Amino acid sequence: MLADLLATAERPVSVSVEEPAGSEVCPYPGLAAFSPDQAQWFFGRDQVTSGLVSQLDERLAGGGVLAVVAASGAGKSSLLAAGLIPALARGAVPGSRDWPVVVSTPGAHPLATLAERVAERTGAEQAAVVAGDPDRFVAFLTAALAAHDLGKPGETSSSARVVLIVDQFEETFTECRGESERQAFIAALGAAARSAVALVVLGVRADFYGQCLAYPVLLSALASPVALGPMSADQLREVITRPAQAEGLSLEPGLVELLLRDLGVAEDSPAQVASYDPGALPLLAHALRATWRHREGQMLTVAGYRRTGGIRQALATTAERAYTRLSPPQRQIARQVLLRLVNISDQGGGDTRRRSSQARLLETFPPGSATALDAVLDVFGRARLLTFDTASVEITHEALLRAWPRLRQWIDTDRAGNLTRQELEDAAAVWHREGRDSAGLYREAAWKPPAPGSPRPPTRPT
Ligand SMILES: Nc1ncnc2c1ncn2[C@@H]1O[C@H](COP(=O)(O)OP(=O)(O)OP(=O)(O)O)[C@@H](O)[C@H]1O
Ligand SMILES: [Mg+2]
Repeated sequence: MLADLLATAERPVSVSVEEPAGSEVCPYPGLAAFSPDQAQWFFGRDQVTSGLVSQLDERLAGGGVLAVVAASGAGKSSLLAAGLIPALARGAVPGSRDWPVVVSTPGAHPLATLAERVAERTGAEQAAVVAGDPDRFVAFLTAALAAHDLGKPGETSSSARVVLIVDQFEETFTECRGESERQAFIAALGAAARSAVALVVLGVRADFYGQCLAYPVLLSALASPVALGPMSADQLREVITRPAQAEGLSLEPGLVELLLRDLGVAEDSPAQVASYDPGALPLLAHALRATWRHREGQMLTVAGYRRTGGIRQALATTAERAYTRLSPPQRQIARQVLLRLVNISDQGGGDTRRRSSQARLLETFPPGSATALDAVLDVFGRARLLTFDTASVEITHEALLRAWPRLRQWIDTDRAGNLTRQELEDAAAVWHREGRDSAGLYREAAWKPPAPGSPRPPTRPT
């Protein structure tokens, strides 16, 4: 049931409660990052894509890891997917047209996941790379390149590379809990980038910069990163108008100026300089998609945009609309689901989204809740606030955590309780994974409820 839903939700939803039946393709992805097949609607990042390509070119001789660093929501994932990948496919780096490109996000077991993605992409036999020997990882990549070239005309070119794109690299710190596993992953990436068989590109959130500096491989990557700033007023105009043009849509006069003003771009701002908070880009992206939904004929209108609630409100409006569509018991489930999809930070303000496996989410609800859970995932999925992968589910963009007051309030009202629940769930997952050893169970003496206002993880017995 849930598995079916997740499997079907993977496919793009063409007819949904949010979008009228029979509608044409929307050229604005909304809260989600651009994917490689949406490159025809991706604008404003030509220069930075060229910069990225030439930095990669310079690393062909084993020059180390390249990092794209920017604030949350600045557009790193989109740049990598809809800027870099199509550029490589066009042959922007000599020979790159035929190279296998592997995109991976770290998750709880980053090296194993990356190896799995490489094996999937190239058809290589997955070796025991998780053992944590960087040289074996390079040998595996060499075999993967050979497997990829198998059956192609000509011989394997000595200049061929596997391109490893590790996006949401910060998950190495938020999702991967074991330091030795983390070190093995980073060492493997370093070895791959120094070798003659791979290019390594990371997408890293700027707020994790400090944590990265503790690792020499990352320290050198961050010494000359590709920094992604806000777009200029001219680039923003392209971002707003060109996707519409590509689909034969027009924009009502005044709409672009209104969007720019609401985004915080000063009216006297020179065309080449932008002055908006880079984290506001997801809000613009969501508002554009919502405005498209309210279009009149082939035109995106000022009235349609106003109906969305505008850049600052559109996301909260969509989320609230999805939430109120649920019955009261389903709303309870929605609250629990969404809280489980947030990494609650003990410092406040640093909360991040967290991917959950379908199985793990199911486990946390009694069997009788399955139908309500399906309804919640369906409604939030159709509103594109949740994104599903084959076996996982996540909040589409972290901007939702800041822009939707109800979710903010759920997190803040019981931060200590949420943190404790999260820690217990994590500990339980580890306990399951490690064979349910009774010696690993928390005992009464080791478990004390946290004092109000002072979240404290339960101590594990020795
Ligand atoms: N060039 C662009 N034009 C229009 N919208 C964009 C562009 N780049 C990114 N966006 C939009 O901005 C939002 C954030 O993009 P993306 O997910 O790529 O950012 P990110 O930096 O990877 O975020 P995070 O730090 O959460 O990983 C998405 O809604 C995306 O569609
Ligand atoms: Mg991203």
